[in-house]
Amino acid sequence: MNQPQVLQHSRSLKDLLNSSSLEFLMEAHDGLSAKIVEETGFAGIWASGLSMSAAMGLRDCNEASWTQVVDQAAFMRDATSIPILLDGDSGFGDFNIFRRVVKKLGQVGIDGVCIEDKLYPKRNSFATCEQKLCDADEFCGKIKAAKDSQLSDDFAVVARLEGYIVGLGTEEVLERAYQYNEAGADAILVHSKIKDASQVLEFAKLWDADTPLVIVPTTYNQTPTNIFEEAGFSAAIWANHNLRTVITAMQETCQHIFEEQTTAALEDAIAPISEVFRLQNMEELTKAEAKYLSGGEAGRSILNDKTEVCTTNR
Ligand code: SPV
Ligand code: MG
Repeated sequence: MNQPQVLQHSRSLKDLLNSSSLEFLMEAHDGLSAKIVEETGFAGIWASGLSMSAAMGLRDCNEASWTQVVDQAAFMRDATSIPILLDGDSGFGDFNIFRRVVKKLGQVGIDGVCIEDKLYPKRNSFATCEQKLCDADEFCGKIKAAKDSQLSDDFAVVARLEGYIVGLGTEEVLERAYQYNEAGADAILVHSKIKDASQVLEFAKLWDADTPLVIVPTTYNQTPTNIFEEAGFSAAIWANHNLRTVITAMQETCQHIFEEQTTAALEDAIAPISEVFRLQNMEELTKAEAKYLSGGEAGRSILNDKTEVCTTNR
């Protein structure tokens, strides 16, 4: 009997995070978006808390439970094989909850988790409500608990600094970063919400440790990425762009159909049903049916007929 296959990435998340050149992780929020990220050629996936919660119709304030988040990440894992870094918010609770999260992430094949030094329940960093940092020592305890609970040496724990988000200066942000580094973080994510890259560039200039640095250039999106590479960052995360894309696309499609009561003029602009089937890998099911259904002939599949129809009839 065949043994269950252990997923092997060509490159681990840790390799990617330790790259000497700048690597990119692209946001996904479900299995479909994760698959599209992988097909495009990105080195890794950012399983975004903002995007997953928004796709569930929830706020990015820990309204989704950690088990719901892990379930969603598992769909992404099933659909892809490149490294996935899960946005672990502030750890979904204390160190004890967080070590359970880390264990479960390992069981479903997620490659790493990022935690931010904010209080639970967290608020999205760009939300205008009050943002509160947690105690640095308590956060170090969460990092240590995570490292002690990970199921594989390849699992990466990324410590995310929210100091700039709450208005701290570089000195205080750096002080926390060195503490998190000491606690065992595999990478440091320095977050900023200002419109230029001055904070993250200053941080990188002063950073005096081998632990790699990660950024999320959402607001400082005018800075060319070679500047980040030259500054020594190892990874940049495009954190929410697939979600924002589908929101606009769905709003336009809904509005059009609502007003026109026909889809005729839209058909060429939206994905054909055959593309949906391709992304779902219906072809594999057809082959599996040929192998496993009694009789063994591929012609048994009703999917073959339906796929044909949809391929030609959008
Ligand atoms: C997310 O994508 O959920 C993030 C990044 O945490 S940000 O929204 O920029 O805080
Ligand atoms: Mg988040």
